[in-house]
Amino acid sequence: MEGLIYLDNAATTYPKPQIVYDFMHEFYQKHGVNPGRSGYDMCMATEEVIHATRTMLTRFFNGTDPDRLTFSYNASDSLNMIIQGMLEEGDHVITTNVEHNSVLRPLYHLKHDGIIDVTYLPFDDKGYIDPDDVKREIRQNTKMVVVNHGSNVIGTIQPIGDMGKICRDNGVYFAVDVSQTAGTIPIDMAEMNIDLLAFTGHKCLMGPTGIGGSYVRQDVPIKGTRFGGTGVRSAYPFHLEEFPYRMECGTLNIVGVAGLHAGQKWIAKEGMKNIHQREMKLWDRLRRALQETDGVTTYCADGPEGHIAVLSFNIEGWDAGNVGTMMDVDYNIACRTGLQCAPLVHEQLGTDELHGTVRISIGPFNTDEHIDTAIQAVKDIAARRRE
Ligand code: ALA
Repeated sequence: MEGLIYLDNAATTYPKPQIVYDFMHEFYQKHGVNPGRSGYDMCMATEEVIHATRTMLTRFFNGTDPDRLTFSYNASDSLNMIIQGMLEEGDHVITTNVEHNSVLRPLYHLKHDGIIDVTYLPFDDKGYIDPDDVKREIRQNTKMVVVNHGSNVIGTIQPIGDMGKICRDNGVYFAVDVSQTAGTIPIDMAEMNIDLLAFTGHKCLMGPTGIGGSYVRQDVPIKGTRFGGTGVRSAYPFHLEEFPYRMECGTLNIVGVAGLHAGQKWIAKEGMKNIHQREMKLWDRLRRALQETDGVTTYCADGPEGHIAVLSFNIEGWDAGNVGTMMDVDYNIACRTGLQCAPLVHEQLGTDELHGTVRISIGPFNTDEHIDTAIQAVKDIAARRRE
């Protein structure tokens, strides 16, 4: 789209670094065969790239065993495997109001079927979960805590290190959804006591859609929930228990893995801290301007500390969806409106009554000019309402 100002990076980052497009293309042309199925050279070369990517991502999250870094379609897919593979009849789970439907819905199905009980923790006025609430809600049958690292609606980064310590001290498994933070905020599974981690490839990790994954720490009793082809021990009637097979079946999305491979190289070259700082500078410029505009309400956006570059707001008198349409049609700005697949955030904020929020999410290729245009658009729309 000619001249499009893309501010919907929490949905998916766009564009990707050129190295990602180039490597995916080159890799698929040179190595586009089925890895792990045969011993010919091309197959082995493909498997080498897959293994190298497992290793890169394992290091990135400070895991220990690349075979426990397994690939899936996306974070929703991995969270389904984590939730269904970990929970059994009679278990209690603690989660939060900041969760995405990728956590809420799998839990809700199990709860609705009478299998588990779930506690939902509210966030405070600034958008953070109090780790003491996690501690307070742990019961004898609490099996797991599932928490979102960075909110896709209000952009707050939860204190997962503190929560992880509480979980470890109390013998509760700790699962973290890092969809919005992996690639922009450091994640150290060992230091943060994370047992299970779910990521998607197409956001800050800079890969394409259709690839994501998980890392499951040693000694975590996750059951495999999918069965099928593995390429090895084909005569054995059951799906293999060992990793990575326990969490993977069928042919991998090798082009997606190649995208993640190149994405890792790009992040390392740019520096994760630099990427985050650049984005937050733009976020803060936007936040200040919006907060100075009459009729604009921002949500849980006090300052850049403890935030990713996601900002939700509403304009008095306008439905969020209408604001999104005006930004698109009149200003060529792409952003997301509505509930952003995280209904409990809006329920707690009361924005469900307003049909959600307008969400601007900034990525590594946004510029000052993009933000200035967005600010002007919001100011114009706010003024138009009062004319
Ligand atoms: N979860 C993604 C978003 O927030 C798709 O837009």
